[in-house]
Amino acid sequence: MSSLANKRIVLGVTGSIAAYKSAELVRRLRDAGARVRVVLTDGGAKFITPLTLQSLSGQPVQQHLLDAGSEANFGHIELARWADVILIAPASANSLARLARGQADDLLTAVCLATTTTVVVAPAMNHRMWAHAATQDNVKTLLQRGVKIFGPAAGDQACGETGPGRMLETDALVTALATLFKPGTLSGTRVLITAGPTQEAIDPVRFIGNRSSGKMGFAMARAAQEAGAQVTLVSGPVALATPEGVSRIDVRSARQMHDMVLRHVVDADIFIATAAVADYRPKFAAQEKIKKSREELTLDLVRNPDILAAVAALKTGPFTVGFAAETHNLEKNAQEKLLAKSLDMIAANHVGPQQGFEQDDNALFVLWRGGRQELGLAHKDVLARALVELIAQRYRQSKQ
Ligand code: C5P
Repeated sequence: MSSLANKRIVLGVTGSIAAYKSAELVRRLRDAGARVRVVLTDGGAKFITPLTLQSLSGQPVQQHLLDAGSEANFGHIELARWADVILIAPASANSLARLARGQADDLLTAVCLATTTTVVVAPAMNHRMWAHAATQDNVKTLLQRGVKIFGPAAGDQACGETGPGRMLETDALVTALATLFKPGTLSGTRVLITAGPTQEAIDPVRFIGNRSSGKMGFAMARAAQEAGAQVTLVSGPVALATPEGVSRIDVRSARQMHDMVLRHVVDADIFIATAAVADYRPKFAAQEKIKKSREELTLDLVRNPDILAAVAALKTGPFTVGFAAETHNLEKNAQEKLLAKSLDMIAANHVGPQQGFEQDDNALFVLWRGGRQELGLAHKDVLARALVELIAQRYRQSKQ
């Protein structure tokens, strides 16, 4: 039986030529056993008729907010409560912008604002509109709020151009939606993750830090949470929103991170160390701001504790996953680190101009004893999901 059986889906159809595919989508969702109620925007109604969608869904199509007829039929609050998932397919550039702004001036945006259920969008637009910084900012905002983005695919477009912006094909959308209702691969596990940089005080206003943005660690936390894990994220200073459903502990220095991790690791099944922990800290942090009176200033540095190695050395410790950012000899260095720190798995990446620190994209080379897998250049959210799946597989095998 499909995991979509008996699921209640609100399908939002917005103004894009891909709206013609929504008819087939309704049909396929119903074939999979789902119940579908369609909300059609004014833009969507320019591309497909309510009658088509009504005939296929077997339910009246809802079009207007604050319309006595529509609201009497099934009001926006009821729709928001009724849905197990809201799928907007196609989602036009305009609808993404309106969702990101939190507008509620038509039925679909009002339903999205009133719901606590998962909202999924399947973007469909010209590739330049998709690539535009405004659209990409909107997508980032939506991702941070827990909205799921399915697609878009690349290829020939209705406008005659080619590039990323096509709505995913119906099959792919139905399959991706079904996976939302499958039990997560990390269901029942507790995952502890470190993220971001650490700051090592020189005096009350200065510190030694590094360029880590925390993006990869936060993406890992989001992906592990989506896979059903109970996630605790110990984060250095970053400018990122906490992923939905993740419990976060903020720290500043490596020693604070070490203490927090060792306090929480007793409850963890899996430990993932994505933080860029400072290897050294000033031996003495000055109590007062250091004045620039001297021509030369020497700082004595001492080694920080290796948090990952400490966790991996625990007798009944969790499944440990480390990261390794390298500028050269990626595989060799990662292999050595895997063995030296007694890790269960290591994910290595090149630090370069297009990937690694501060970037949205990354590529990983994952190693464990007796196995390896490359995860090609992709958005850190996409990569994190793939890495979480690998971790889940290896973790389950380690328990057999
Ligand atoms: O040895 P290296 O710093 O390259 O190892 C990187 C891995 O070790 C990362 O997973 C990082 O989070 C972790 N690490 C740590 N504590 C340190 C240094 C690194 O947990 N003091």
